[in-house]
Amino acid sequence: MVAEQLQRLAGIERTVVVEPLPGGDVGWRSRVRWALDAQGRVGPRATRSHRVVPINALRPCLIADPAITAATDTLDVPPGVHPAPPTGPRRRRRDSGRPPRRTPVALPEVVLAQAADGAVTATWPGRPGAAPIVTEHAAGRDFAVAADGFWQPHHAAADVLAAAVAAALAGVELAGRTGWDLYGGVGLFAQVLAEAIGPEGTVIGVESDERAADLAVANLADHPGFTGRCGEVEAVLPTLDPAVAAIVLDPPRSGAGPRVCASLAGLGPDVIVYVACDPAALARDTAALAAGGYGLDSLRAFDTFPQTHHVECVARFVPAAAD
Ligand SMILES: C[S@@+](CC[C@H](N)C(=O)[O-])C[C@H]1O[C@@H](n2cnc3c(N)ncnc32)[C@H](O)[C@@H]1O
Repeated sequence: MVAEQLQRLAGIERTVVVEPLPGGDVGWRSRVRWALDAQGRVGPRATRSHRVVPINALRPCLIADPAITAATDTLDVPPGVHPAPPTGPRRRRRDSGRPPRRTPVALPEVVLAQAADGAVTATWPGRPGAAPIVTEHAAGRDFAVAADGFWQPHHAAADVLAAAVAAALAGVELAGRTGWDLYGGVGLFAQVLAEAIGPEGTVIGVESDERAADLAVANLADHPGFTGRCGEVEAVLPTLDPAVAAIVLDPPRSGAGPRVCASLAGLGPDVIVYVACDPAALARDTAALAAGGYGLDSLRAFDTFPQTHHVECVARFVPAAAD
């Protein structure tokens, strides 16, 4: 799929090997976002339906860590959070004999997140106060993450991707220079950049979610050269000092987009490392970077979502002359 999108959208022929992550095909997921129905059932929705499939010891979610199934089974969401039962007639339609369609109910979502120590925290809309903070571990350090905030769902993914980003930055002399961690979350790749750049250099993290941006500043407090900026990449970019040596970007599924990629290429960094969860968005943005003079130097793909068709890519771009 990755190779096909690269060929179709960027005109690049490449053999792509998807690398497995440690841990096997089941029990890998440390985060789930499930629906809660009027009867108090918590679980994923059935295929093409609003029906909630309850998760419990008899019917575990096999890709989730068993502790998540156990926590779901015993979850006690206050009754006030449950949606109202669906209303409307259940009579059969006179004309077709089929029951009338019910208006789909927007069900509240329950998020369960498992921290590095194995404990599971649940949050739901209306839970008093901000979502609790959980501690995750990757790239040799702890990260504070909001229980309903972004963190790679696979137990091993944050660590594996951080190592892949570090490898993609290797070979570029970054000591004392500047690196950007765009779409930075709580600072996972800012940590990798800070290690490569050292105490004399500067790392700037850009993240639109206020809580995650604050947590990145707290997580990277031991790196004096780190500055966190809260805002959309598109808005923050023009305000940054354009002298940047390395850019790491890890946008959401829709990708950074051709305009952002053209801006980044225009700054002339030594290396751009793009972490992507959607091969089509990556391929489209690869074409934009190529138009800006950056060639795809290396590409690794990881099976960060076993038993699904999703993969995560780490792509390294360098000025085309050096490609
Ligand atoms: C795929 S996550 C990556 C987070 C982090 N790099 C990590 O690995 O934990 C994408 C992040 O981008 C943020 N985000 C989404 N759109 C954004 C935008 N336009 N500008 C800045 N950040 C954005 C999200 O809040 C989220 O934290």
